[in-house]
Amino acid sequence: MGKLEGKVAIVTGAASGIGRASAVLFAAEGARVVVADVNVAGGEETVERIHSAGGTARFVRTDVSRSSEVESLLATSADAFGGVDVVYNNAGIAVFKGVADTTDEEWHRVLGVNLDGVFYGIRASVPYLRRRGGGSIIVTASVHSIATGPDIAAYAASKGAVLALTHAASLDLARYNIRVNCILPGAIDTPLHWANLEAVGDPEEEARKVREAEPLGRQGKPDEIARAALFLASDDSSFATGGAFPIDGGLLARLM
Ligand SMILES: NC(=O)c1ccc[n+]([C@@H]2O[C@H](COP(=O)([O-])OP(=O)(O)OC[C@H]3O[C@@H](n4cnc5c(N)ncnc54)[C@H](O)[C@@H]3O)[C@@H](O)[C@H]2O)c1
Repeated sequence: MGKLEGKVAIVTGAASGIGRASAVLFAAEGARVVVADVNVAGGEETVERIHSAGGTARFVRTDVSRSSEVESLLATSADAFGGVDVVYNNAGIAVFKGVADTTDEEWHRVLGVNLDGVFYGIRASVPYLRRRGGGSIIVTASVHSIATGPDIAAYAASKGAVLALTHAASLDLARYNIRVNCILPGAIDTPLHWANLEAVGDPEEEARKVREAEPLGRQGKPDEIARAALFLASDDSSFATGGAFPIDGGLLARLM
């Protein structure tokens, strides 16, 4: 029996990278999965992969930076599958600029997806999870929630804020048996990661530097984050709330 048998799970940003890997794994573990993303082709491909493996999923086009779309994502998911148990707020974007060069538009765009989107996702989930007697909310934060570098100011600010929001929400929602945890991925091999490397310099050379900085000597794979998300989604983590789990190859532990 799968770890998410009988559960309904929503995964945002599930057209690519970490979100896709999580949606596929959740479905393989028995969940009925709602794939949410702005990328229609990528979202439909994720659903196709789940169907080919014998799972159940549907795509709902959702821009998480719009409150009304997130509200309707929750309503559509509950209508389609009879309720919602797990909400994984994973969608994210980055702008690779320092604080002095970031425009108002870039700042609001990044915070709109990475922070407002998570807030809308958590708030909209509450009535649905309460109806099930509880549930699990997961957030993809980042190592940038804790420590960052130059030229990624808005992203770092958004990821620091979602860590604080995870703490706050876990306290507000514990009374409803709703657990809220975040994952802090290190360098994970996804399109977003490669966009970061390209922004810094020659991507292959930058990737080599990243591998050198990682105590485990390599980038992570999306599935390695998905497995942490599965733990937090399932009853295996029944006593975990308000937690921030680094899955970073040792990056945050390293002084230099
Ligand atoms: N890859 C890494 O190294 C890394 C490290 C730490 C944290 N993260 C975080 O992991 C999460 C997933 O990123 P990824 O690396 O898989 O990147 P990715 O680019 O492969 O996937 C991100 C997905 O989010 C979707 N998205 C963007 N804006 C959206 C919006 N407004 N509404 C709905 N969906 C939207 C994109 O279409 C894409 O499918 C992000 O929150 C990112 O910040 C990634």
